[in-house]
Amino acid sequence: MNRLVVVSNRVPAPSAGTQAGGLAVALDGLMEKRGGLWFGWSGVIAAGAAGRPAMIERSGSVEYATIDLTQDEHDRYYNAFSNSVLWPLLHTMPELMQYDRRDARVYREVNARMAAALQPLLRPTDLIWVHDYHLMPMAAALRARGVRNPIGFFLHIPFCSPDVLAAAPEMTELVREMLSADLIGFQTDNDVTNFAAAAQVLAGAMRGPGNSLFFGGRRIRLGVFPVEIEARSFAARAAEMAESPAVRRLRRDLEGQRLILGVERLDPTKGLLQRLVGLRRLLEKRQDWRGHLTMLQIAAMSRKDVESYRALRTALDREAGALNADLGEPDWQPLRLVARGVERSTVAGYMRLARVGLVTPLRDGMNLVAKEFVAAQDPADPGVLVLSRFAGSARQLEAALLVNPHDPDAMADALDSALRMGLEERQARWRALWAAIEHRSPLVWGRSFVAALLRASTLTVAKTPVPL
Ligand code: F6P
Repeated sequence: MNRLVVVSNRVPAPSAGTQAGGLAVALDGLMEKRGGLWFGWSGVIAAGAAGRPAMIERSGSVEYATIDLTQDEHDRYYNAFSNSVLWPLLHTMPELMQYDRRDARVYREVNARMAAALQPLLRPTDLIWVHDYHLMPMAAALRARGVRNPIGFFLHIPFCSPDVLAAAPEMTELVREMLSADLIGFQTDNDVTNFAAAAQVLAGAMRGPGNSLFFGGRRIRLGVFPVEIEARSFAARAAEMAESPAVRRLRRDLEGQRLILGVERLDPTKGLLQRLVGLRRLLEKRQDWRGHLTMLQIAAMSRKDVESYRALRTALDREAGALNADLGEPDWQPLRLVARGVERSTVAGYMRLARVGLVTPLRDGMNLVAKEFVAAQDPADPGVLVLSRFAGSARQLEAALLVNPHDPDAMADALDSALRMGLEERQARWRALWAAIEHRSPLVWGRSFVAALLRASTLTVAKTPVPL
């Protein structure tokens, strides 16, 4: 079996503490089972990091190789270009971009430096799998160093349409660089369509047979690989946690009020302010809910060095305060806002307690919280998922109440229906949702990408382009 080399910005190396997010959770199982090399940033910012080789650690069958970043690299590659340009742009929120071409230069330099540190660790039969928007030039940087191994790239976040994409001057070049991979994977077919269009319109690629493109005399496969959760184990955890002290305390505290739950990182893409407007509209339109529901919004502060995240925190604090002040009573508040992270197991228990899971991003690659909410429910008395139609997971979770998060009345109506929904309909919807996630897992997801990469790498050799 070929060794798998995963390349990602965050790496769950033993020395990296708890810094890894959703991407690492998705890949952990595969790496544990298959073994291999995991390469990326150590999570450490260190002066003089630039010249040093990768630090190697081992845990079980996985070897971790990481490099530190300098403060300037971290500011420009991670905070600025990755999170203040690529993140908003690819989520179709170009108005939030903070573009500076010097950041783009450092982003490229960090990718080149990572490729240089990775190259000596590679073996000729390795399969290389690069992840996410931090590393869009990585395949090209490795090819420039003579690496001939199969390379796959997976984007965990959405890919916007070509006209939006053009707002950042680097995008044509970055799309070309992505095309150095043999297989490029996305969360949804919409992302594939957008990327294929950008590759043709901006980079001059030509459409090939099936889901493929021709570029530079090579054939590149595109594919849809929706990220999944370990549904059964999450369900078991939620059932167990339903009787934990933290969940009991919350249940007691709610005194029979219906719980609406939102859980995410505090991020401009998540539609947090729109959600509060929707709640306000519900309580204005249907006054009988006053005193009978509580919304708990967990919005863990993240990327606090990025201005738009800090601004969102301020706006959210203001709106939450205004909502409670305008609509609350001496003995009741509609909203509880927590801007700290809450332990995943406890969240699983809260999800089981909730009557409504409110997952309404303005745009989201997949959104695993929606899948976790489904898995956490008690099949005998399940809660209702209210889900944004702009989340990638809406394509699989069609039995949820799908809403447009920009429309406060639609949000209020969906919340009202969810809160009033009878047991039979809740059960029927839940069964359909569960069927969509039950037999899937991150392991199956990872294996299907790796199998597709092996197939794709035999196809990449020069073939005659098919005219459009
Ligand atoms: O794909 C999006 C992602 O990179 C996830 O892996 C992760 O959950 C999240 O964003 C966290 O981002 P950061 O690494 O910036 O904390």
